[in-house]
Amino acid sequence: MPHLFSPYTLKDVTLRNRIAMSPMTMYRSTEGRLDDFHLMYLGARAAGGFGLIFPEQVAIAPEGRTTPHCAGIWDDQQVEGHARVTSMIDAMGSVAAIQLGHTGRNGSELKPWVGGDLGVQIPPEHPEGWQVVGPSDVPYGFGKRVYPVHPLSVAEIKAIHRQYAEAARRALDAGYRWLEMHFAHGYLAASFYSPLANKREDQYGGSLENRARFLIEALDAVREVWPEHLPLTARLGCDDFHPDGAQFEESFETVGWLKEHGLDMIDLSMGGNTDDMREPFFPTPSAWVERGARMRAEVGIPTTVSWNLGVPQNADRAIREEKIDLVLLGRPALANPHWPVWAARELGHEDPFELVPEDWGWWLQNFRGHDPSIGWPGITEVAELEQSA
Ligand SMILES: Cc1cc2nc3c(=O)[nH]c(=O)nc-3n(C[C@H](O)[C@H](O)[C@H](O)COP(=O)(O)O)c2cc1C
Repeated sequence: MPHLFSPYTLKDVTLRNRIAMSPMTMYRSTEGRLDDFHLMYLGARAAGGFGLIFPEQVAIAPEGRTTPHCAGIWDDQQVEGHARVTSMIDAMGSVAAIQLGHTGRNGSELKPWVGGDLGVQIPPEHPEGWQVVGPSDVPYGFGKRVYPVHPLSVAEIKAIHRQYAEAARRALDAGYRWLEMHFAHGYLAASFYSPLANKREDQYGGSLENRARFLIEALDAVREVWPEHLPLTARLGCDDFHPDGAQFEESFETVGWLKEHGLDMIDLSMGGNTDDMREPFFPTPSAWVERGARMRAEVGIPTTVSWNLGVPQNADRAIREEKIDLVLLGRPALANPHWPVWAARELGHEDPFELVPEDWGWWLQNFRGHDPSIGWPGITEVAELEQSA
């Protein structure tokens, strides 16, 4: 029976465990580059035992960023910064994954803490802003992403697919061994997929097959340059939680098509095309896992999900029950760079310290008289301390 700490192999890549750090935009890049901050932040998580590490959504074009401070790989000059990071991740025994994306109509934004909320836009005429693009001229709305959206022509769509392929080639040069396409969270691909944002009447709009076309063509473009022996995965915005948006039930067919076009794993998440969501289940750890289990069984494709899986027992159970193949952790990875080591101790792993670099591991394994005092108190130990106080 697999468990959270079983190795996992997809194509020619073997991860040391089932714990992946989910992509998280850091808003800390200059001209799209990864620098010392990213080396420190991602290197720490690799040393902390994560099996797979995604930096963040990496833009395939300057206007495909969320903010002017977001990471990119649209230029050969950006490869070096990525290569420093992948080589550190590799040296720490983890695997470096890239999430390629284009933010579409949800770009040209302020950092959330500067704008006071997610999605507050910089006007296109501002020196730091740009003209956002989408399937149709429908702004996201809700008083935030309000500027006009340029509807892409077919020639412009084809150019974006070429940008995906170029970015994938650079990702390979930079040393990434796993590539995820970002087809979720309201960004360009997700907006093509959603009837809420896509009002086109050509071959890219209307039926499910037409709405999925942008995604499938992007995947085809990347598969041509991304080696067959390396994993190619996608995060799909499978549900807008709105009666007129993308529906989970139709995503089985979509994922089946993506699989036929060479997708190796699906990562299910939300559509993110509207703020008017009806009954989204963000706080429930099991809801996404149950959806993942259905997708895995019905389409027969390796599956992963994120959202609220930071309690080790929940994460381990999802793997043991073979509902999903990997656990993606976002906020828990931000909060605790050593989450895997902590989880291993919580779950009674025989040698949690084998997850950290050998030198630290030796010291921590052999000088362990006062475990709580080295900074990894177990949940039960903390509870006992509180009780006896
Ligand atoms: C600061 C931050 C930035 C994020 N940026 C991205 C991103 O670039 N791409 C993406 O697909 N998801 C992004 N997410 C979503 C996470 O990858 C993850 O799916 C989500 O936080 C749920 O997992 P969690 O409950 O473990 O945090 C971000 C989340 C956070 C907290």
